[in-house]
Amino acid sequence: MNETQMQHLSWSVNARGVAWIWLDLAEKSANTLSEPVFAEIETALDAIAATGAKGVVFASRKTAGFVAGADVEAFAALPDAAAARALVERGWRFMERLAAYPLPTVALIHGHCLGGGLELALACRARVAVSDRKTRLGLPEIMLGIYPGWGGMMRLPALIGPSKALPMMLTAKSVNAKRAKRIGLVDEAVPERVAALTAEALVLNPPKRKGLPLVERLWAGPLRALFVQQAEKRLRAKVRAEHYPAPYAVLRCWSQYRGNPLLIPAADPSSIEFLATHPTTKNLLRVYFLQERLKRFAKAQTAPITRVHVIGAGVMGSEIAMVCAASGLTVTLQDLSLEALARAQQAATRWFERRFRDDETALRAALDRFIPDPQGLGVAQADVIIEAVVEKLDVKQRLFAELEQRAKPDALLATNTSSLSLEAIAEGMAAPHRLVGIHFFNPVTKMPLVEVVQGAQSDAKAVERALVFVGKIDKLPLPVRSAPGFLVNAVLAPYLIAALKCVESGIAPEVVDAALEAFGMPMGPIELVDTVGLDVAILAGQQLVPDEPEPPRRLHQLVQEGKLGKKTGEGYYRWEKGKAVKRTVKPDEIPEGLAQRIIAPLVAATERCVAEGVVADTDLADAGVIFGTGFAPFRGGPLHWRNTQDTDKREKSTEMT
Ligand code: NAI
Repeated sequence: MNETQMQHLSWSVNARGVAWIWLDLAEKSANTLSEPVFAEIETALDAIAATGAKGVVFASRKTAGFVAGADVEAFAALPDAAAARALVERGWRFMERLAAYPLPTVALIHGHCLGGGLELALACRARVAVSDRKTRLGLPEIMLGIYPGWGGMMRLPALIGPSKALPMMLTAKSVNAKRAKRIGLVDEAVPERVAALTAEALVLNPPKRKGLPLVERLWAGPLRALFVQQAEKRLRAKVRAEHYPAPYAVLRCWSQYRGNPLLIPAADPSSIEFLATHPTTKNLLRVYFLQERLKRFAKAQTAPITRVHVIGAGVMGSEIAMVCAASGLTVTLQDLSLEALARAQQAATRWFERRFRDDETALRAALDRFIPDPQGLGVAQADVIIEAVVEKLDVKQRLFAELEQRAKPDALLATNTSSLSLEAIAEGMAAPHRLVGIHFFNPVTKMPLVEVVQGAQSDAKAVERALVFVGKIDKLPLPVRSAPGFLVNAVLAPYLIAALKCVESGIAPEVVDAALEAFGMPMGPIELVDTVGLDVAILAGQQLVPDEPEPPRRLHQLVQEGKLGKKTGEGYYRWEKGKAVKRTVKPDEIPEGLAQRIIAPLVAATERCVAEGVVADTDLADAGVIFGTGFAPFRGGPLHWRNTQDTDKREKSTEMT
């Protein structure tokens, strides 16, 4: 039968009587769900029912994946809470209709299947996932301050049990195809070449649903209150309800309202209205769009990148190489020290084993792509060469002068330097324009941001290629100009110094940290200094805040005593089993305005970076500080936060007059 073309999908019924609905959103690279798409699917389903087809397979024509989620732009443009309720209601009804469709339905999933996309798959009778590196299934709605309101909170726990479903929704973590199969989220995880046949087989022979195991039925039934209590306790240890209400709302919606948000009255703190109008939701949407903007920097057309050579297998180089290999690039890793290479190889093996624990083939492939290379033979073939050796100018200068002779003429040459000037490193090179900075953060495997540094001598095309490379290894690239500390370290340093000075003035480290954690920082500044190392903090302080009239005395004293922080077991805190020993701080111990006082220099430094052109604009500065330092995402970034403070103050003063 001929394909029926609609705007966002096409459908047809084949000789075996199986109807295929191909989702293919017009003028978009990924499928998302919104009213026009719901309407077209409904029309197609009605028409298919009339053909006598035996069942339906949903699939995507986009290479990126199945469905990325709801249309976030449409959601962000909703005028008010009533519109948010109407949208949830529309999606809920659509999914209910799909779930009640009289013919068997199967979702054939490749690539991303997230948010509304997974809710669609859950409303189908069965699911097949293509088992490759790109397939990810998850319900990450809380990252936007909302919840999976189109049936996800009801269907996911019902399918895989609350003990697996709730953590997925509460942490926003996605799972790969193999894990999805193991936890019962998909019926089959198969290689691409047999995926279509498998989906059709499930249409023609729908699988019988086994009930949930007894323990899951207990959690969902008589032990539900206990389950919620424990989950809430774990949640409280991670996020505060006043900062992030959505995960708390997920728990409440599942436990009190059977996962149906439409049943929640507007006045309830887990209602659609409450979440849709909460400032956190607006700010998290802002962060989402900032993230999308950073990703777009990686979209330029450049020569292909498949081989990377990393020089220096220390703290940074070894993890940079690991991340590259995990992302599908072939990496050669060079170091003068064979011990360093052996340590890096061990660390990589451990990390790959964890990361690919459900996928033996992917694990082997990553290990094969990670190649220790003591002689530096990889230089001649590499598309990208990253230097992460000791922070010494003469060493780096010599290295690049030699590298440019041996590298391919079009290879990108990059340094990971934190504090040396790019222009100075390039001085000994015949073609200094080839050198750019690709500045990673420690730990590389965890930190999402990478600063791509354009030196005064750097070629714009080389910078573009570096941005693309960063996108290829699934990091967020931020273009910055060469300046001391670039953006992230330049704003962190004055913030940390302000915090250390508060300790100097007699405030306990625990109180300073508690103040900033209550503000929403992922880790207090004093604990951060201890983690980074007090010696490193002194060096960074001298370089980045050279005109500081009074460097923190206690910091210097501790270093003299050999107390360098976590790595020596003592700094501002004592460290036991990798954790700082801290006393509990009561909220009323925190002096009024303490967090604001410590954050003010960070905000000022961020503004200065914008004024001096280190970053192009305030949005990029906010993005860099959020993804580079973990600055409380629900506050929307330091400059955005400062502006909302100003607005609040203005509003308060007009109220008073
Ligand atoms: P590290 O001291 O842990 O590792 C440096 C490695 O380079 C050592 O294994 C050493 O044997 C090797 N090496 C030295 N000279 C070499 C040469 N000529 N050829 C091959 N290998 C050589 O240093 P780390 O911390 O990894 O820093 C490396 C670079 O990354 C520095 O430029 C640093 O500024 C930068 N960086 C460091 C961060 C951190 O938090 N540690 C964060 C961001 C950047």
